[in-house]
Amino acid sequence: MTNFIAKPANSLSGNVKVPGDKSISHRSVMLGSIARGVTEVSGLLEGDDVTSTIEAFRSMGVDIKRNNGKIIINGVGVDGLKKPAKPLYVGNSGTSMRLMSGILAAQSFDSELRGDESLSGRPMDRIIKPLTEMGATITSNDSKPPLKISGNQQLKGISYDMPIASAQVKSCLLLAGIYAEGNTCVSEPAPTRNHTENMLKGFGYKVNTKENKMCLSGHGELKANNIEVPGDISSAAFFMVAASISKNADITLNSVNVNPTRTGVIDILRLMGANIELSNHREIGGELLADFRIQSAELIGINIPEELVPLAIDEFPAIFIAASCAKGETTLSGAKELRVKESDRIQVMADGLKTLGIECKVLDDGIKIFGGEYLKPSGAIKSHHDHRISMSFAVASIRSKFDIEIEGVDNVKTSFPNFVELANYIGMDLQEV
Ligand code: S3P
Repeated sequence: MTNFIAKPANSLSGNVKVPGDKSISHRSVMLGSIARGVTEVSGLLEGDDVTSTIEAFRSMGVDIKRNNGKIIINGVGVDGLKKPAKPLYVGNSGTSMRLMSGILAAQSFDSELRGDESLSGRPMDRIIKPLTEMGATITSNDSKPPLKISGNQQLKGISYDMPIASAQVKSCLLLAGIYAEGNTCVSEPAPTRNHTENMLKGFGYKVNTKENKMCLSGHGELKANNIEVPGDISSAAFFMVAASISKNADITLNSVNVNPTRTGVIDILRLMGANIELSNHREIGGELLADFRIQSAELIGINIPEELVPLAIDEFPAIFIAASCAKGETTLSGAKELRVKESDRIQVMADGLKTLGIECKVLDDGIKIFGGEYLKPSGAIKSHHDHRISMSFAVASIRSKFDIEIEGVDNVKTSFPNFVELANYIGMDLQEV
């Protein structure tokens, strides 16, 4: 097990490029694999989660070459996947498991999806139920992985009203819909990341989006398409918070994805008084990008607007660190989903903040954080092997007068393999031990 020792930092500066977006990277491998022709992807996230997706498709007969930060996928077409020789192991990656289930449910072969300890505790009923309605046959361990998916099931399109705002569920059903008879429609209770819809269109597959409803017809073809993956705003969020809470910071983050379904963290930090400037807006392959300049700010506590929750769903651990350094009280509600991420992010963050002497009140669907001064940690922070918890508490060291030890940081490489290098480059003092 690797730990972080994060020491106090004085000032932060520099210009960095965060790694490629995780959601877009996964989707580029999946769609590139089932497209016809050669897809080249540049800027792909080289993290363990995306590697899990690549390995899964390789074991289904797709030739995927890695070459100098690029991957080249020889797509096999929608019906070209082959039966894997053994269960597909996707590690820590919920996105791989949930999205691939949609594709696997429609294959001519049986398959099995397995994950690590954290993923094996996460709910899969949210995809099993609608996929079963489409005609899939899936068995699970009491709605949790491993998932055993039967082949040779003819899927039919359905119209599904998602009970929770989840891009993974939406994407799973749209991918299954490619193989289904007739139309598949998914309605979402609140906007969620729309990378699947954007990328399907890029691969020449028609998706109709009307208000909160996305529809496609089955049995179309995907045509290979080159993809440039923009920087991940979820990774950028750690440095946005780092610079905001630092007493002396001026940093620039280049080429970050600013798809409006992902920018809740900018809105929330700005409501707290953060000093974030966006410039050089541009579009690549249907995704918006910008450069960010973030300077120190005096943050204030806020009530986080509920409509921003799905638009910042992965950034709350970092936002909670901002709240712990803000003047006054910050309240989050309507965020029960945080309890079923890579860890229970409400409880685990509350426990970590208490270790630093910050008062907080855990709510069923959120948290209240009372901003204050960090005290000498009463012990090591337990990350529960959640990458975003580890990186969030590393950022907290910027405002601490004491070293912070964070236990179990190996999973940082699932989403941000060069986090330590970039953090030290901008002026943090972070060691892996
Ligand atoms: C993701 C969707 C979100 C997010 C996850 C990635 C995706 O999950 O938390 O990290 O790539 O579709 P939910 O759909 O469960 O909200």
